[in-house]
Amino acid sequence: MAEEGKERILVAGCGYVGSQLAGRLVRKGMEVWGLRRRSTLLPRGVQPLAGDVVEAEKLSSFPRGVTQVVYAVSPDAREEASYRKAYVEGLYRLLDRLHTEASAPLRRFILVTSTAVYGENRGGWVDEDTAADPVDFRGRVLLEAEAVLEESGVPGVALRLGGIYGPGRTRLVDRVRAGKAQCPPGVVYGNRIHRDDSAGALEHLLFHPKPERVYLGVDDEPADRCAVLRWLAREVGVTPPDPEESAGAVLPAGKRCSNRRLRASGYDFHYPSYREGYRAVV
Ligand SMILES: NC(=O)c1ccc[n+]([C@@H]2O[C@H](COP(=O)([O-])OP(=O)(O)OC[C@H]3O[C@@H](n4cnc5c(N)ncnc54)[C@H](OP(=O)(O)O)[C@@H]3O)[C@@H](O)[C@H]2O)c1
Repeated sequence: MAEEGKERILVAGCGYVGSQLAGRLVRKGMEVWGLRRRSTLLPRGVQPLAGDVVEAEKLSSFPRGVTQVVYAVSPDAREEASYRKAYVEGLYRLLDRLHTEASAPLRRFILVTSTAVYGENRGGWVDEDTAADPVDFRGRVLLEAEAVLEESGVPGVALRLGGIYGPGRTRLVDRVRAGKAQCPPGVVYGNRIHRDDSAGALEHLLFHPKPERVYLGVDDEPADRCAVLRWLAREVGVTPPDPEESAGAVLPAGKRCSNRRLRASGYDFHYPSYREGYRAVV
């Protein structure tokens, strides 16, 4: 039987961000379970739950009395079927299993989705009040998952993350270092968040007394790709790519995501922009 008042947290999809979050919670003395197929990769102190979320009904030793859940499962491939499996089917199955096992009402369920739910592509600002009008299957499936959570009746929150970077995720830095990064023609905005702020925002929302249903999880500064590449080049000591020699097809200008709601909720960023974040990485 779950101990009265004690936090019992399940992190489903305990990977790059999930492991960072789970480790933090364990260090604070909470009881944490990590669900993934390769459970030997879970951090120390996290109780392993090995298996496929799509087969949640088969998971052995499922914890009783879970109080909070973070769902951060990622798709195996950039294909609609994989997205559907990871975000919709897996979510549905896990909610079903939680319902079966419930010994007390779930206090919170945070679903990690992404800024791909927005269709804006001309460089405009978006926030949680902007109509989500996705341009491709990724955004559509993510919105479907958000609807599954909303309709499930559990106290749910969707955190729409921007591009996650941090230790070990250095593809961009590596390309810049190798002198292979070129500016695309025109302004192309990107929205980012450091791994530690992704985990930090999740932790913040797990314990927020009265969260909203949706938050954008991005840092303070949507930034033009060329500006980021040039800054990174200077940081690692190579010649910055020349905007005059921009290469490749003209890309849509993207969107600028606002983190005002997350900030107003009390979350303070450790890495408020790509500069602080990448400086820590390089
Ligand atoms: N990467 C980005 O820039 C970005 C941007 C916005 C949003 N997001 C979303 O943010 C979340 C966290 O991202 P991340 O970078 O931490 O992802 P990640 O490192 O790929 O971690 C996801 C975890 O999900 C587990 N998983 C995948 N399919 C599973 C299944 N069927 N059953 C059980 N576990 C499964 C994987 O472990 P096993 O393979 O061991 O099962 C992995 O540990 C994801 O939902 C991701 O889609 C990512």
